[in-house]
Amino acid sequence: MYKFYATVAITLLAGSTLLNAATYKGQKVYIETCKACHGGGQALAGSKKQRVWGKMMDNKGEKLAEIHLSSKKAQPSWEYFSSRNYSKDAKHLEDFLVDYASDSGNVPACN
Ligand code: HEC
Repeated sequence: MYKFYATVAITLLAGSTLLNAATYKGQKVYIETCKACHGGGQALAGSKKQRVWGKMMDNKGEKLAEIHLSSKKAQPSWEYFSSRNYSKDAKHLEDFLVDYASDSGNVPACN
C-alpha cells in the first residue's frame, strides 16, 4: 500500500514539475523579450481569459505577431516577431499566458 501511495505522489510531483517547467520557460522569454514594453508579465497575462490567449497564440502565435507587425509603436519588436526564435518561443509563451490568464485560478504574485 505504501508503495502505491509513493508512486502516485511521485507521478503527481513529476507532472506538476513538467507543467511549471513549460510555464517557467515562457516566463523567461517574456522577461527577456516583452517586459521592456509591457511591464509585468503576470499582469499582462491576467488581462485576458485562457480562451483568448489560446486563440492569439494559435498557429505559432500568428495573431500576436500580426498585432505587433502592424503597429508602428511596436517597431523595435518586429525583428523578433518575424524571427524563427519567435516561432520556437510561441508555445512556451502560450503556456505562460494561459497559466496566468484571468480565469486560470492562479493568483499573480506581487513581483
Ligand atoms: C517594442 C515594444 C514591444 C515588444 C518588445 C512587445 N510588444 Fe506587445 N505590443 C506593443 C505595442 C505597441 C502594442 C499595441 C499594438 C496596437 O494595438 O497598436 C502591443 C500589443 C500587444 C498585445 C495585445 C494587447 C491587447 O490588449 O490586445 C499583446 C497580448 C502583446 N503585445 C504581448 C506581447 C508579448 C507576449 C511580447 C513578447 C513576446 C510582446 N508583446 C513584445 C509593443 C511591444
